[in-house]
Amino acid sequence: MKPAYPFPKPFVWGVAMAATQIEGAATKDGKGESIWDRMGATPGKIHNHDTPAVACDHYHRYKSDFALMKKLGVKNYRLSIAWPRIYPQGRGAVNQKGVDFYHRLIDSMLEHGITPWVTMFHWDLPQALEDEGGWRVRGVTEAFSTYADTIVRAYGDRVKNWITLNEIICFTKMGYGGGDKAPNTNEGDRVVNQTYHHAVLCHGLGVRAVREYGGRGARVGLTDNSNITIPLMETPQDIAAAKQAFVQENTRILEPIYRGRYTTEYLRSAGANRPTWEKGDFDLISLPTDFLGMNIYTGFYVRAGRRNAPEIVPLTPNYPRADAPWLYLVPEAMYWGPRWVNEIYGVKSIYITENGAGYDDEPPVKGELFDIHRRNYVRTCLKELHRAVTDKVPVKGYFLWSFMDNFEWQDGYSRRFGVVYNDFTTQRRTPKLSAHWYQKVMKENRLI
Ligand code: NOJ
Repeated sequence: MKPAYPFPKPFVWGVAMAATQIEGAATKDGKGESIWDRMGATPGKIHNHDTPAVACDHYHRYKSDFALMKKLGVKNYRLSIAWPRIYPQGRGAVNQKGVDFYHRLIDSMLEHGITPWVTMFHWDLPQALEDEGGWRVRGVTEAFSTYADTIVRAYGDRVKNWITLNEIICFTKMGYGGGDKAPNTNEGDRVVNQTYHHAVLCHGLGVRAVREYGGRGARVGLTDNSNITIPLMETPQDIAAAKQAFVQENTRILEPIYRGRYTTEYLRSAGANRPTWEKGDFDLISLPTDFLGMNIYTGFYVRAGRRNAPEIVPLTPNYPRADAPWLYLVPEAMYWGPRWVNEIYGVKSIYITENGAGYDDEPPVKGELFDIHRRNYVRTCLKELHRAVTDKVPVKGYFLWSFMDNFEWQDGYSRRFGVVYNDFTTQRRTPKLSAHWYQKVMKENRLI
């Protein structure tokens, strides 16, 4: 029998997590306060008054966590470095104890046969920088540049895969434009457009850091959670409409990065709220990268409307979703997202840096937890990804979010994305069905 859904070789299989969501030790060894620590300390901002102060206590338990990864066959792990551990005030004096922690962490990963994929910034802006204006002000880009240079110089001998920023939209629009992410303010389009500009500029500065200090074989890219548009029907008209909508939907990030400009359409529609920039910004922002990371959970349907103009088709209230209410189950996003960035921007190397499903799992019974719903959604997503690679879309790898249940930002600890269950009282980890299943997928390089 021919194996079903074989993936090309080599294909990078891995898991992903991020510093704030797992480390805990929020004030240990000189770590500074982040905007998420501040949000956790502000009553009413986070579900169930949860805070990231302890999380999975990974700061103290990383060795046993890596041992468990190894046992489950994980060979690639996407992690992030906490900026406020390295620069507690965001800039100024380096915190050597924070630098040393990641030396130990990276060495331990390598000892367990796990390759690091390091995200420089996964939302934990030092609160001191937020107090100076945060992503609103250009000063953040200078501070980021120094931070990026510092970590690439420190870890570049062992880390060869770098991701500059994670999900720009979540710390710009959803942080300053009325969303539920830190710093949780609502300041309007002028501010939001400027935060986007500073973010894409930081991406460019991160790329420059890797080129200058990354050493031989270093690679770098952005992780974007592009809005994924899906043709309602796979007719030429709907496909063309969805493609056009993809460009419009992601114009603030992908156009400057891949085309070194903002479109006149965007600038015209932004009007007086357009961002300001300085000479040379776009050269930095559009520095060539080695891959694009895509976080894909969901998407939305588009059809050709009047005069073939793209028209978003609303989902009905009973459309199926995970327990995470934003997570409409739209697996086709895994096919169309990579296809669009390849067709539109000529991206030659794509990694799915996150995909998974958030469900409020009940605790394991006798050491077992049958999260068939999560496993089935991930499996269906992977079928769509397989369709993409079959159509020669250059997808080179896939990271499942998440290895273990963790601090799900404003939703706290009840919203679980892990394939390993974490009991947050005892810190006991229990692999779920999805972990055992994914172990086989990684090992056999095909769907099971
Ligand atoms: C994307 C984010 O990068 C990650 O931090 C988050 O936990 C997952 N989505 C699930 O919401």
